[in-house]
Amino acid sequence: MQDKLEQIQKEALTALEPIDDEKALEKWQVKHLGRNSALMEVFKGLGSLSKEEKPLVGQEANQVKIALETASEEKENRLNQHKIYLALEEEQIDVTLPGRRTTSGSLHPTTHTLREIYRVFGDMGFQIYQSREVETDQYNFQLLNFPLHHPARDMQDTFFISSAEDRGDDPLLLRTHTSPGQIHYMQEHTQKYPQDPPPIRIILPGMCYRYEQITTRSEIQFNQVEGLAVGEGITFGDLKGTLSNFAHRMFGQNVKTRFRASHFPFTEPSAEMDVGCFLCGGEGCSVCRGAGWLEILGCGMVHPTVLNNGGFDPEIYSGFAFGMGPERITMMRHRIEDIRYFWANDLRFIDQF
Ligand code: PHE
Repeated sequence: MQDKLEQIQKEALTALEPIDDEKALEKWQVKHLGRNSALMEVFKGLGSLSKEEKPLVGQEANQVKIALETASEEKENRLNQHKIYLALEEEQIDVTLPGRRTTSGSLHPTTHTLREIYRVFGDMGFQIYQSREVETDQYNFQLLNFPLHHPARDMQDTFFISSAEDRGDDPLLLRTHTSPGQIHYMQEHTQKYPQDPPPIRIILPGMCYRYEQITTRSEIQFNQVEGLAVGEGITFGDLKGTLSNFAHRMFGQNVKTRFRASHFPFTEPSAEMDVGCFLCGGEGCSVCRGAGWLEILGCGMVHPTVLNNGGFDPEIYSGFAFGMGPERITMMRHRIEDIRYFWANDLRFIDQF
């Protein structure tokens, strides 16, 4: 019996030696220490041994059992150690590798231009008024002195909005310019101050829409910044002074300006302001198309009918208004040749600003 126990221990320990993973160790434990192992058979057989033999064999078998269990535990510890070592090796972080860049957003080029325009007019005491984008025919045209069916409406092809109610001659539409905001503001102002309204100095920025063929130079949506000053004794000289000052602050102290006669139904007289091409300095280049001048905005003295529609008595009050396109200005400054980039949301374009 002693030989047999020795044999069992030797065999088990020899089998344990080469084991190098958990699964194999579990199998080994079942085979050499499990219920059906040779060792357990010895324990089960103790009952049939003689009184003298029983304690001896029992003691011996116990020692074998302890020896195998200890060896098994040691093996298990070693395997665990190895596992931790491997994991550390594998998950090691190379701190010398370059980090991943986080991408940060950037402002849209139009936003840059808008903010500059706000800053310049803000310095001159203009406040910002935001008007609605969905308008009525009345506000977009009629109150601005575009009579019904007047050909001047063709200048601004319109997106009409169908509505359930038939609004007759006053359909809903998407504003084609920011000028209807002039009427809204003047009406609010003169209702608030029925007597002696204080002077107005506002700019009205916002999106406008025109039902136009999309080309490199015209989009169906674009921003405008409208300006309006109304008060007693405001003259065309004030208009020229304010807008020339704007041009100098926006495009540089040395930039030249000129005013050309033009026509808008809601201003009289009307003009367009050009600035000397700030890219070629007036010599003629591809941006100004050889002219040496860039058209920046439309402007004029507020038409008496429009003042009246806003609640101002044109016998006492006068004013000037102007409107400019920030996308146009941005295109000129950065030599952007296609207005369609502005709403295409291509990051390769937007990220450049
Ligand atoms: N509303 C005009 C346009 O869209 C611009 C303008 C505004 C002209 C104010 C004169 C005065 O073309």
